[in-house]
Amino acid sequence: MPDISPRGLTRLAFGGDYNPEQWPESVWQEDVRLMREAGVTMVSVGIFSWALLEPAPGEYDFGWLDRVIDLLHDHGIRVDLGTPTVVPPVWFYRAHPEALPVTAEGVRYEFGSRGAICHSNADYRAAAAAITTALAERYGDHPALAMWHVHNEYGVPVSACYCDSCAAHFRRWLADTYGTVDAVNEAWGTAFWGQRYTGFEQINPPRATPTVGNPGQALDYRRFADATVRENFRAERDLLHRLSPGVPVTTNFMTALSQCDSMDYWAWGREVDLVTNDHYLITDGRRTHVNLAMAADLTRSVAGGAPWLLLEHSTSGVNWQPRNPAKAPGEMARNSLAHVARGSEGAMFFQWRQSRRGAEKFHSAMLPHGGTDTRVWREVVELGASIDTLSALGGTRTEADVAMLWDWQSWWAQNLAWRPSEDHDPRERADSFYEALYDHHLTVDFAHPEADLSAYPLVVVPALYLMTQAAGDNLRRYAENGGTLVVSYFSGIVDEHDAVHEGACPGVLRDVLGLTVEEFSPLLKDERVRLTAPDGPALTGDVWSEFVVPRGAETVWTYADGLTAGRPAVTRHRTGRGTAWYVSTRLDAQGLDAVLARAAGDAGIAPRADLPRDVEVVRRSGTSGTYLFAVNHTAGDTEVPLDTPGTELLTGERAAGRLAVPAGAVRVVRLDG
Ligand code: GAL
Repeated sequence: MPDISPRGLTRLAFGGDYNPEQWPESVWQEDVRLMREAGVTMVSVGIFSWALLEPAPGEYDFGWLDRVIDLLHDHGIRVDLGTPTVVPPVWFYRAHPEALPVTAEGVRYEFGSRGAICHSNADYRAAAAAITTALAERYGDHPALAMWHVHNEYGVPVSACYCDSCAAHFRRWLADTYGTVDAVNEAWGTAFWGQRYTGFEQINPPRATPTVGNPGQALDYRRFADATVRENFRAERDLLHRLSPGVPVTTNFMTALSQCDSMDYWAWGREVDLVTNDHYLITDGRRTHVNLAMAADLTRSVAGGAPWLLLEHSTSGVNWQPRNPAKAPGEMARNSLAHVARGSEGAMFFQWRQSRRGAEKFHSAMLPHGGTDTRVWREVVELGASIDTLSALGGTRTEADVAMLWDWQSWWAQNLAWRPSEDHDPRERADSFYEALYDHHLTVDFAHPEADLSAYPLVVVPALYLMTQAAGDNLRRYAENGGTLVVSYFSGIVDEHDAVHEGACPGVLRDVLGLTVEEFSPLLKDERVRLTAPDGPALTGDVWSEFVVPRGAETVWTYADGLTAGRPAVTRHRTGRGTAWYVSTRLDAQGLDAVLARAAGDAGIAPRADLPRDVEVVRRSGTSGTYLFAVNHTAGDTEVPLDTPGTELLTGERAAGRLAVPAGAVRVVRLDG
């Protein structure tokens, strides 16, 4: 296998966050011995260690970290070294209390947790640069160093600060972005409710107001907050590049977690040397493996299709959800390998040894409180061996079938206040459309709305409310050139300033969809509408309906009841050499399945009736060959057809014709040729 990024790591990554400072040094020897037993190849160290590394301003104590890194190196374990800038020490905050962030309501947070940072604060920036410099000078060319892990999960738990430094910084950002205050007035539509500004110095962050504030201001503040955090990442990254050349720099993303939607990862993906992601199963009753697949596909897409790395997930239960079930036997391996199937160069965990103290003592780990005589440990050792067996596929790329558009900025705008219905949740639409594609056994690439889509036979657009003119033109060209498009309601409505596109909705999509929407008609809670078609099943919608006026599109399903009875509900428009579908209500899973099946037919995508539900088949390919992953999420044994024979890597057995995949298991076939 080629020497992949991270530096010097010649196997896939397997390991986790290692927090030796929580343990006496006598435990460290056991740690490294057990790491070797489990096949650990890399650990993340020092992420929360600033208070220990710099106990007083400018006084460093690197002794313990020297010993940890040397010990890991002696045992052949690569180090992903953290810059600990997510938790400055208490002495820093006592000297600079204004570095603690302030909420929109004016409450300043206190020290004593993590991630309490005002990213505009100059003292924080200087202190972060100093500790990063000290670390880079000391360890920048250490032979154990595989990569730099800057900060931790930027964007949480504080997504924006509203203090006076941020106000000043926001004004500078506005001046750079807009040039004049008149341009800001225009963009934010301040003629409405008499909000006109006559000087930049009058503008504040969108702090608490008696009723809804200016949406353009709120949207720009999210952009500003994201850009500010990215500035701080870049500052650390550039120092590390200069002082530790040749070592990749990353920061761990949380691409698909709807609770952490404050970072525009399309922009972030361009800043890191290697995209890394954290993913935890959200156990809210939905199919967790579908969200996992979506997170992995989205992370790969943010990486531009290149391999990426799962930097954190859990061996079993977490401790921060309302209910934290343990993983079932085999589920951890299935989760890990499902990430690998979709492009991860290994599987890492939070964390190596389960803490005894602190807020995360009930969070699972690779080495549980109960030690090595535990199910989790035995599964960890087994997984380490499996991942090692797969090392040859490092550097290969996951093959996708279709694309789904995704845009964090559109979510930000969509989630502002006073929309037609609070029941409409654009993220829910994205999840549901993804799930429908998953159930059609299609591997999804996510794409920015302005990205080149010509490689995909089918592009799905679930509720993309904010869409620029360029994005609209992009979709029109895509369909005219032969693509098949499926667009969900409340898409293409506003421009980048949250202003409704001129003319009838959906402004930038009118032409490609061949229709206008005269009026939105959201449904009441629990209200449902029936949709009928002469040549298709009856479908059900809820949350939303619309008065659609076809202007070139044909009606495929019609509203059978409700205020819009007799009007088009689902339409299809032949345009150029392609087709554009429009879905004007919130269809349930069965409805999405029916519409996507028709659209897939238009796109020339053959249905995969040969694969059972909840059996994933994904391929990675590259110079070392083509690898077929089959992940069986069901409780029954199954078989997957194999067009090409090959060798199953986890069992070493030959496979031809049909590949047996036992209940809950994963199989990875290196195809011949
Ligand atoms: C992550 C975080 C880790 C740990 C983990 C627990 O979001 O980066 O430090 O807190 O969650 O699930």
